[in-house]
Amino acid sequence: MMQTELIVLANEKIADQTIEMQLGLNSDNLGTEVQKFVPGQFLHVKVGEADTTMLRRPISIADVDGNGNITIIFKISGRGTDMLSKQTAGSRIDALLPCGTGYPVDNLNLDTALLIGGGIGVPPLYYLGKTLAARGTRIISILGFQKADHVFYKEKFAELGESIIVTDDGSYGEKGFVTDCLKEMDIDFDCFFSCGPTPMLQAVTNKLTGRHGYISVEQRMGCGIGACYACVVPAKSGTGFKKICKDGPVFAANEVSL
Ligand SMILES: Cc1cc2nc3c(=O)[nH]c(=O)nc-3n(C[C@H](O)[C@H](O)[C@H](O)COP(=O)(O)OP(=O)(O)OC[C@H]3O[C@@H](n4cnc5c(N)ncnc54)[C@H](O)[C@@H]3O)c2cc1C
Ligand code: FES
Repeated sequence: MMQTELIVLANEKIADQTIEMQLGLNSDNLGTEVQKFVPGQFLHVKVGEADTTMLRRPISIADVDGNGNITIIFKISGRGTDMLSKQTAGSRIDALLPCGTGYPVDNLNLDTALLIGGGIGVPPLYYLGKTLAARGTRIISILGFQKADHVFYKEKFAELGESIIVTDDGSYGEKGFVTDCLKEMDIDFDCFFSCGPTPMLQAVTNKLTGRHGYISVEQRMGCGIGACYACVVPAKSGTGFKKICKDGPVFAANEVSL
């Protein structure tokens, strides 16, 4: 993990309150390092010095391109993400990267992967899907959003494979929750990967009990590097806790209690 300044290359609103930001490196030497970043890992971004923004904000890596540029997608949900959304091209952002343990893509040899994303849990699944598709894995995505103007990256996921969009109110795609789709469709897959709000992860893991899968868990963080115990989640074995920032955010589906 390193602490470095990233340069904002582009900043675009892609859905309601949702920003896609391209970040470049301040040194060409880091390009090859960035291409080793694992899907599911995150940046821990510094957004200001005030009491309310002093703590870094965790934002998932949504994509990495051949030049080592990084894409993040975030929802403006408070002061920190609001400040981040106002950074213009050329601004510099202090970040710790890459943080956390991502999806174990190097150890997986899959015919079909099922990606199940909810809202702002969708971004890390794009980099994951792109990485798996490049290795010949068939990708099926089920992406849930609250309503039509919250939907983003539908074309990008469609390029990876079969992609189903659901919205809570039916204003785009199918009406309902991602788990309704799981119920209605007889989807054949080797492994599922899910990221989204905790109630969604609970519903998905309950529905897919016994299936091989991984979930990415999001929680409030302090240090982001495993030093402060702000982000613990109980281990399912009943013995102790896992740190989301260091042991996760990606866990095997049966590894932690949500
Ligand atoms: C591993 C991980 C990856 C994430 N990836 C993304 C992403 O790709 N896109 C995205 O939009 N959001 C993502 N989040 C959530 C994002 O970190 C919060 O929305 C953001 O920190 C809110 O900051 P704020 O200042 O705008 O809000 P505020 O509510 O003002 O934040 C106050 C404090 O609460 C913390 N906080 C608030 N909500 C969350 C949350 N859900 N998770 C963790 N900390 C929180 C902030 O870090 C800060 O310390 C991720 C969270 C985690 C843990
Ligand atoms: S945020 Fe400090 S231990 Fe995870």
